[in-house]
Formats: sequence, structure tokens, C-alpha cells
Amino acid sequence: MIERREVEVPYPQYLCPVDGKELPLAEARMSVTCAEHQPRCDALAFTVREARPADRRAIEQICDRAWGETEIDVFGRTFDVLVCDNLLAVAGDDLLGLISCTVHGGELTVVMYSVYPHYQGRGIGSALLDAAAEMAASRSLTSMKAAVSNDDLPLLYFYQRHEFSIAEIATGLLSDKLGYAGVGFAGIPIRDEIRLRRPVCP
Ligand SMILES: CC(C)(COP(=O)(O)OP(=O)(O)OC[C@H]1O[C@@H](n2cnc3c(N)ncnc32)[C@H](O)[C@@H]1OP(=O)(O)O)[C@@H](O)C(=O)NCCC(=O)NCCS
Repeated sequence: MIERREVEVPYPQYLCPVDGKELPLAEARMSVTCAEHQPRCDALAFTVREARPADRRAIEQICDRAWGETEIDVFGRTFDVLVCDNLLAVAGDDLLGLISCTVHGGELTVVMYSVYPHYQGRGIGSALLDAAAEMAASRSLTSMKAAVSNDDLPLLYFYQRHEFSIAEIATGLLSDKLGYAGVGFAGIPIRDEIRLRRPVCP
């Protein structure tokens, strides 16, 4: 049996919709509502654009908060966000969210995807994903792929609501690499990498 151990998550990834408290990953819980009673956030004006050299520090910061570093292991490889194609959601000079992509195996591959917790639930994640799909189409790529750890139910939900479907599960990949199962979202043991794919319309 694989041992379970707390993993050091750099910063909270989610806020409680009831009191706005920052949630350590393992303390998050899910609830199901009808669409009408989903927590609503105030609208926010933002734009999505390609990253520029001057954005490097802000990209390092969001990676640090979400992941602890800019090097991300997915699909059996290590990718450095700083040399990927980065699309940013910004409001003025503020970075709100990032989707970092590269071409791997002939598909646009999401390497890193994060919206700062205080800006989630306002359509920023959807706009970033749409922009990434447009980037794929502009390069004549016909599909996109992304990966989530088995515990990351919000991201798994989100991807499936955005046309991705599960293509493959690398069972035990994450716990085997660490030698133990880290404690993830809602205390779920982190074991597997779930790989998803969606078509891209030209
Ligand atoms: C998944 C994520 C990118 C979505 O970004 P977002 O800006 O909140 O997305 P949107 O506002 O466009 O869409 C919100 C949808 O996602 C769901 N959702 C997922 N997490 C949510 C959150 N924390 N707050 C609000 N909605 C959330 C909502 O229920 C909503 O679904 P609906 O369309 O069925 O109503 C964002 O929650 C996030 O960054 N999560 C952390 C991801 C992560 O772990 N990254 C590190 C590893 S790559």
C-alpha cells in the first residue's frame, strides 16, 4: 500500500464562496447546486493577450503560486513554462490568469493553467481556453490535450465542460514518482494523471 503524505502546495488555489476564505487544498470540499444557485462573482473587465518579454516576472509569480516552479511535469516530460507559448488574462497591469501551451506529439498541449483564486468564476478561465483553442487552429493543429491529477475535481469538471474528454489515465504515475500519495483536493490521495483531449475546429 502506498503511504499518504501532505504535499507542500505553494499557496491556496481556491476561495470559499461563502466567506471568501483562502482554502488550503486538502480543506476544500465540493457541493452540488442547480445552475441558478451556483456562487456568482461580480463581472470584471479583462483582456487576453500573448505574453511579452516584460511579463516574465509575473509569469514566474503565478507559476510559483500555483505550482512552486516554472518546470511542470506532464505527459511524461518536463516543460518549462518560460519557453512555452503563454497567453495571459490581464486587467491593466495586473495578471489575472495564465494558460501556458506547447506543441507536443502534434497537439497543442496545456502545460500550466491557473487563474488567481480571487478572480475565479468570472469567465477568465474559459476565455483563456478559447484563446488557446484559437492559437491551435491558427497553427492548423486539430486537437488539444491537457492533464489533471486525479484529485483535481474542479479542473476535471472544467475541462469536461469545455469539450475535453478523458483519453487516457496514467495510473499511479504521480504517486510512483514521489514514492507516496500526496494529499490533494479535499484530502483525496494524488495518484494518477488523467489525460484529456478535445478537437479543435479549424
Ligand atoms: C479551473 C480554473 C482555471 C477555472 O478558471 P475560472 O476563471 O474560474 O473559470 P470560469 O470562470 O471561466 O469558469 C468557471 C467554471 O468552472 C467552475 N469552477 C471551477 N473552479 C472554480 C472556482 N474556484 N470558482 C468558481 N468556479 C469554478 C465553475 O463551477 C464554472 O463552471 P460552470 O461553467 O459549470 O458554471 C480555475 O478554477 C483554476 O485556476 N483552478 C486551479 C487550477 C490548478 O490547479 N492549476 C495548477 C495546475 S495546472
